[in-house]
Amino acid sequence: MKLFIDSADIREIQEAKDMGVLDGVTTNPSLVAKTGRTFEEVAQEIVEMVDGPVSLEVLATDYDGMIREAEELMKYGDNVVIKIPLILDGLKATKTLSDQGIKVNNTLCFSPMQAMLAAKAGAAYISPFVGRLDDISQDGMELIDTIVQIYSNYMFETEVLVASVRNPIHLVESARMGADVATVPFGVIKQLMKHPLTDIGLQKFLADAKKTPQKG
Ligand code: G3P
Repeated sequence: MKLFIDSADIREIQEAKDMGVLDGVTTNPSLVAKTGRTFEEVAQEIVEMVDGPVSLEVLATDYDGMIREAEELMKYGDNVVIKIPLILDGLKATKTLSDQGIKVNNTLCFSPMQAMLAAKAGAAYISPFVGRLDDISQDGMELIDTIVQIYSNYMFETEVLVASVRNPIHLVESARMGADVATVPFGVIKQLMKHPLTDIGLQKFLADAKKTPQKG
């Protein structure tokens, strides 16, 4: 499963990149706003520092506006993926851009049929928001399971990109279900490597090593 970071914070992205396991980045207007910097600055830096796909979101909610914005966003670099919300005009824009070979990430997906239409329109990625479904007492991971099954039944090539990830369990389940990608906040990426038994075991090894001096 590919691992993207869900962040617009350059330091976080750099740290995740240094871990050697980062495959791409997703941003959204809320994440960019949190940085307190301009979109242009942030977008340019991220696109240049990451080799993999970087999702940049359009703000327009009408077809013409989305297409215009997508053309501007593409200028940041070859690895830009246009993030488009799953509303009717967004679906139309997805079809137009995908037909031109431009990669689209359909965001704000909350239902299997939204995901199926996104795939039919040619989206490169579908972003179902699991945490936000959990927040309203629906099962976010069940949506992932259903979409993976539908895409497999009809051999859609759209990649399932699990978004709104809140904890490592979401990732274990995503991998178990065969999701293609998960986009993960930096705090959760760090949690993935933590296990108390690893820390306790290491302390014990280091303590015991003092009893049997070892070169190198
Ligand atoms: O990038 C979109 C998504 O991951 C947002 O997550 O935590 O704001 O629901 P969250």
